[in-house]
Amino acid sequence: MFAMETKIMHKKRLLSGIKPTGKMHLGNYLGAVSNWVRLQEEFDSCFMIADLHALTTVYEHPEELKKDKIDLAVDLLSAGIDPEKSCLFFQSDVLEHSELHLILSMITPLSWVTRVPSYRGMLDEEKGSSLNTYGFLGYPVLQAADILLYKGDVVPVGKDQLPHLELTREVCRRFNYLYANIFPEPEDRLTNYPVIPGVDGRKMSKSYQNTIAVSHSEKETGNLIMKMLTDPARKRRTDHGNPDICPLYEYHKIYNTKIRQQVIADQCRSAEIGCVDCKKECVSLINESLREVRKRREYFLQNPQQVNAVLKDGAKKARVIAGKTINEVRKAVGLI
Ligand code: TRP
Ligand code: SF4
Repeated sequence: MFAMETKIMHKKRLLSGIKPTGKMHLGNYLGAVSNWVRLQEEFDSCFMIADLHALTTVYEHPEELKKDKIDLAVDLLSAGIDPEKSCLFFQSDVLEHSELHLILSMITPLSWVTRVPSYRGMLDEEKGSSLNTYGFLGYPVLQAADILLYKGDVVPVGKDQLPHLELTREVCRRFNYLYANIFPEPEDRLTNYPVIPGVDGRKMSKSYQNTIAVSHSEKETGNLIMKMLTDPARKRRTDHGNPDICPLYEYHKIYNTKIRQQVIADQCRSAEIGCVDCKKECVSLINESLREVRKRREYFLQNPQQVNAVLKDGAKKARVIAGKTINEVRKAVGLI
């Protein structure tokens, strides 16, 4: 009876992280963070601002990192991460991440990390650049440490992160096999969200400089959308359009009602509606949906001490969990 009661009361642990590399944009918000906000109701949640992970790519720009960390904290709180329900913290405030990363790196075969697709892909893309470092190779091992340190059961991520989750599970099994059954195998929780197009029609991403940030004003949002790429074949108002290949129409699919979507698609094809009006409708929907978030953002910007206190308290809570795990790990591997 008692065992059953405790089981009912015990929520599963959820862990996720986001890198502070620039302002939170609609892609991050719709694809990941709004999902976290929902999931925090159901799980015992830890959300981490992965500043050490950011350092793997922005190590040449310390001032940027410093600013981006705080900005992201403000954005996450504004988006609705609730410190009463979840633990929100900076990864580097919990030293155990670094220690577990180092210990896990001892048992991770080199071939497991060199074959991770994001590693290969980024190195190819950047062509012999600043990413050719020891730290960047260890990126997924640090991520494994993040997850295992909190004995995370569930990890909400986008598709691009699945190889990192797979590596986490492999490292987890190897650790449990070599030493002691300390870690549960984490499960991924895919966010079923379509790719959010940026203003140039490519995937919205900071590296393409095509983002609409949550922190943009309503006017800035309007200007960005009004400049956005549409059906490239529709040059004149009288040309018939094709919503299926129009990046802006993706926003209607996200923000508009099913009925309006159909009307717009029909009117686009028959040239009854022009792109300017179509965009205006879209701008008001986006701005409407972000109004509360932006209002909270103003509040947190004016109360930075409150943001700092939340992060400090989050780190304190995280350290309690992380400290317990690292102690078990030290014992298991023979350090104590
Ligand atoms: N690598 C993740 C990303 O780029 C961020 C991240 C860091 C993360 N640590 C994590 C995600 C732990 C989930 C769990 O999106
Ligand atoms: Fe795209 Fe709307 Fe223009 Fe059609 S009317 S091409 S959906 S912006």
